[in-house]
Amino acid sequence: MAKKIIAANWKMNLMREEAISLFNGVKKGLSAHKETEIVVFPPSIYISDLISNHPLIEVGAQNFYFEEKGAFTGEISPFQLKNIGCNYVLIGHSERRELFDESNELLSKKMRSALDANLKIIYCCGETLQEREEGSHLEKIQSQLEILKSLTNDELNAISIAYEPIWAIGTGLTATLGQAEEMHAFIRRILIDSSSKELASEISILYGGSCNENNANELFNCPNIDGGLIGGASLKVDSFLKIVDSIK
Ligand code: 13P
Repeated sequence: MAKKIIAANWKMNLMREEAISLFNGVKKGLSAHKETEIVVFPPSIYISDLISNHPLIEVGAQNFYFEEKGAFTGEISPFQLKNIGCNYVLIGHSERRELFDESNELLSKKMRSALDANLKIIYCCGETLQEREEGSHLEKIQSQLEILKSLTNDELNAISIAYEPIWAIGTGLTATLGQAEEMHAFIRRILIDSSSKELASEISILYGGSCNENNANELFNCPNIDGGLIGGASLKVDSFLKIVDSIK
């Protein structure tokens, strides 16, 4: 069975004291949730403020550069992240693909260096509204998952997938249960083809895109949805804890 994961992508939000207070609030409210892994992705300047020894909370980086070290002004290496106790990274978020022109080639390099640094990866994929309306959404996700084909089984063990339909991100439009489960089952089949049924069943596939305390429960009840990657609703202690509570 895949591990249940609820991840909070804070994006470029919160001042330092707000970030610390949100993190502490989540930490305090978590004691009862023993099996779900919680990963918080704060703006990178707060990562070392938040690294904790709480058994259920990991702190991850929203972004990094693929080189190990050197003259890359402004960048952070995956080895530096690992060195400060950060264990997770996001790769392939649609905002980075679209706003920062992250190409498949760059994403492959990021994937390789994150694996070399022994980081766990949440790899994001998702289609635009136009692609869904044209019926090319499955094809789009398949092409975004091509990157996984070159990975060994051991490397696949370090990966979780987040399916985030772009039209659902920050819009209040959530995929229907049918749309989400269809895509998650499709992703699971691709993972089976790239590895084995056994390994694919252990890879967590998260849903993201206007997931909140009102729709989380039914989404997480879908057989192939193993948790969520939460944006807006992760910025308030109460709503985030309710989402965590929704997962069995
Ligand atoms: P929202 O939950 O705000 O739609 O954001 C989803 C997301 O992009 C998480 O990475």
